[in-house]
Amino acid sequence: MKNAWWKEAVIYQIYPRSFCDSNGDGIGDIEGIISKLDYLKRLGIDIIWLSPIYESPNDDNGYDISDYQNIMREFGNMKDFDRLLEQAHIRNIRIIMDLVVNHTSDEHPWFIESRKSKENPYRDFYIWKEGKDGREPNNWGSWFGGSAWEYDDATDMYYLHIFSKKQPDLNWDNDKVRQKIYEMMRWWLEKGVDGFRMDVISLISKNPAFQDGEIHGLYGDLVPYCAHGPHVHEYLKEMNREVLSKYDIMTVGETSCVTLEEAKKYAGEDRQELNMVFQFEHVELGSGIYGKWNDQPIDLIALKKVFKKWEEGLEGIGWNALFWSNHDQPRAVSRYGNDGEYREYSAKMLGVCLHLMKGTPYIYQGEELGMTNAGFTDLSDYRDLESINAYHELVEVQGVEPEQMMRYLGKVSRDNARTPMQWNTETNAGFTTGKPWLKVNPNYTGLNAAQEERDEDSVLTWYKKMIGLRLHSQWSELISEGTFAPAYREEKNLIAYRRRFEGKALLVLCNMQPEERELKLSAAYRQVIADNYKEAAFAGNTVCLRPYEVLIAEEA
Ligand code: GLC
Ligand code: CA
Repeated sequence: MKNAWWKEAVIYQIYPRSFCDSNGDGIGDIEGIISKLDYLKRLGIDIIWLSPIYESPNDDNGYDISDYQNIMREFGNMKDFDRLLEQAHIRNIRIIMDLVVNHTSDEHPWFIESRKSKENPYRDFYIWKEGKDGREPNNWGSWFGGSAWEYDDATDMYYLHIFSKKQPDLNWDNDKVRQKIYEMMRWWLEKGVDGFRMDVISLISKNPAFQDGEIHGLYGDLVPYCAHGPHVHEYLKEMNREVLSKYDIMTVGETSCVTLEEAKKYAGEDRQELNMVFQFEHVELGSGIYGKWNDQPIDLIALKKVFKKWEEGLEGIGWNALFWSNHDQPRAVSRYGNDGEYREYSAKMLGVCLHLMKGTPYIYQGEELGMTNAGFTDLSDYRDLESINAYHELVEVQGVEPEQMMRYLGKVSRDNARTPMQWNTETNAGFTTGKPWLKVNPNYTGLNAAQEERDEDSVLTWYKKMIGLRLHSQWSELISEGTFAPAYREEKNLIAYRRRFEGKALLVLCNMQPEERELKLSAAYRQVIADNYKEAAFAGNTVCLRPYEVLIAEEA
């Protein structure tokens, strides 16, 4: 039987605000995306995941939606969207939408109604609670700083917001809420969109006891009471029955805090919930006492273990979503590779490391160029509310030194990945003729798509070849369907694995360090399929791996 189309696909994530600005207002837009479809076609991707393009006051850049069935004015209008969908489909590129339904904007008409009075028909669309002894209903902290509860004096009650106070959580226990959401989803599917990436979908069902959480830092941890809550699987099954199953689409859940056991429930092939989930264990490895805010290097042994766990754990049960980066993570090459001397080598190595694993790979815009962290050194250059709130909370309340916090932001702030796409050497990297909403990384003069398209050795050219190898070569079946097994596990700073299918085997060796190393091979090899140093350095059964070298070899 032929695999599902989304298993034999490479997905490209577009963060519209930073992709391409067509009218000089400094903000990327739909027209800009349309103008780059041929670029994406040349890259060879099959599916676009579009970060939110709906009407929004942009407290969280579109992840706070005030109208699910309208387009954000800065991005264009519904006609533009229809044209984007049509033009993508003409090129055989599918589009999946970001579905942000754990919360809405506080400017959504449902919330405007809901906060008016306790009797309002929309009151129960959100999560309202009485205060306790003149304080918040419980000690939960918002993921974007401060309490997770906001007091509203119209009714003298508090509403829950896991994210910013402009992102009130919807009450999924209310049947009407779920029906409204399903209706909206059908409306988009009828338009012809090809699926959904579901924002923090693991958080939609809250434990009704609303008990205090264990204190982490300043507030109580809500995760045990909100992640994978009591009805989450029931609601997803209902959504699948009533909506998803009726269309030929794909779904990927952003399942924050997911464990392997939970992932099997969300994405198990026989579960009728989602097709795959994003897990975060590999990107959260650096977490320390201030949560994600730290500047420690990644523990590569732990990273290998995470890959092994997920690749083996879902084998035959569910399907992996593979990613290094997205709009919430720093740039892959800065975090896991080397964004100085070995930028190109390490970007290519990371690409292969991820794309040769089993699952559907996701490329975040600019990753195919080897774009790097912005590492702003001035707080005023940041636009991301999570970063700005964290700065104030950690520096002003928790006593972290400002320089220290600026280092943390430079390493892991979401704005690192949100600087405008680097198209060419023109002003503002060809992203806009106006003033970009977020500063362009000054390295665009030597790092941009136009140059890389001309250069046979560029990261971009490498990505094109790598996508070709995965999707259109004699190795395609092995890469999509073969088994995964870690190799040379005792070797430090080396990620190595084998893919096997119908008697054939590919060995992937990724040197994760800036130093050379020798490796004695346990099996003979037949041919080298790819190497980012062009010629592999074999001597008998020993191979010398140079800094950030990656090598794919067919084993005998
Ligand atoms: C998800 C999004 C992130 C957003 C948050 C709240 O994690 O990826 O960008 O801020 O949800 O919607
Ligand atoms: Ca624009």
